[in-house]
Amino acid sequence: MSYNEYLNRSKELSTQSGYFKAVNTLYYDRGFEGFQHYKNLIKISLEKASKGTDRRKLIAADICCGKTMWISRYFPNYCKTIYCVDKNKSALSVLPSSNCIAINKAVSNHIFPKNSLDYIYCGFGGAEEFIGDFHNMLKPKGCILISKVVYGDDIRFTDYSARKVLDRRRKISQMTKSIKNTFKNVRVARMSFGMTYKNPDTDKILAALEVAWKTKRLGQDQYSRFSKALKSRIKNNRLTIKQNGIIWIAVK
Ligand SMILES: C[S@@+](CC[C@H](N)C(=O)[O-])C[C@H]1O[C@@H](n2cnc3c(N)ncnc32)[C@H](O)[C@@H]1O
Repeated sequence: MSYNEYLNRSKELSTQSGYFKAVNTLYYDRGFEGFQHYKNLIKISLEKASKGTDRRKLIAADICCGKTMWISRYFPNYCKTIYCVDKNKSALSVLPSSNCIAINKAVSNHIFPKNSLDYIYCGFGGAEEFIGDFHNMLKPKGCILISKVVYGDDIRFTDYSARKVLDRRRKISQMTKSIKNTFKNVRVARMSFGMTYKNPDTDKILAALEVAWKTKRLGQDQYSRFSKALKSRIKNNRLTIKQNGIIWIAVK
């Protein structure tokens, strides 16, 4: 374990497809605490869309889908068509279900016609910029699920400063306001996501956090501090990372 090791890992992950390797390293390769709960919230939102629009098979969009593609990976049978939208081409290289259509574009208000979708999922992306656009794209009584990480462990492996937590909370409460002003029947759920690593490779985890959270490459001093903080959290060869998220389910 050394600064050079960390630098090599960080450079390996600094490509478009490296971003997804980083996210997989941190979250999906191992599953995570909260996974079933999150999946259940998605199921509730899909069923709301079905009931509201009176369609057994939905026209759905997974916007900012990344490689995770929750809807086509776990819920393809709820949908007639799933448009998977991501501006990053490498996110769309594998389509998990046959009813999935890849759209390699940045989100904009004319990416889908007005009133054309029964359901929108926008998980852990930049949904705050598009609340009004999502409302336009949805059919009346269609349903949307939006999620975001609010705060939690980041690359420093020390607590967020009070100021940073406050700033994040302020942004999230603005988003709740904007969703409530735009949509009806807004349900807000909060949950904790937890990832546990056995015999953790701390350089790999630091590099993956840097890439996934889009922080600057660490200098040698920072590396020493963060690596030490991270190692001090390992108990019985296990390291747990926790993040707190918020999920909004809303109806047009
Ligand atoms: C955190 S990942 C998505 C995770 C996934 N949706 C989930 O719920 O686990 C964010 C994705 O959003 C994409 N993205 C960010 N801004 C975008 C934009 N303006 N238009 C389209 N895709 C965008 C990125 O390329 C990345 O693949």
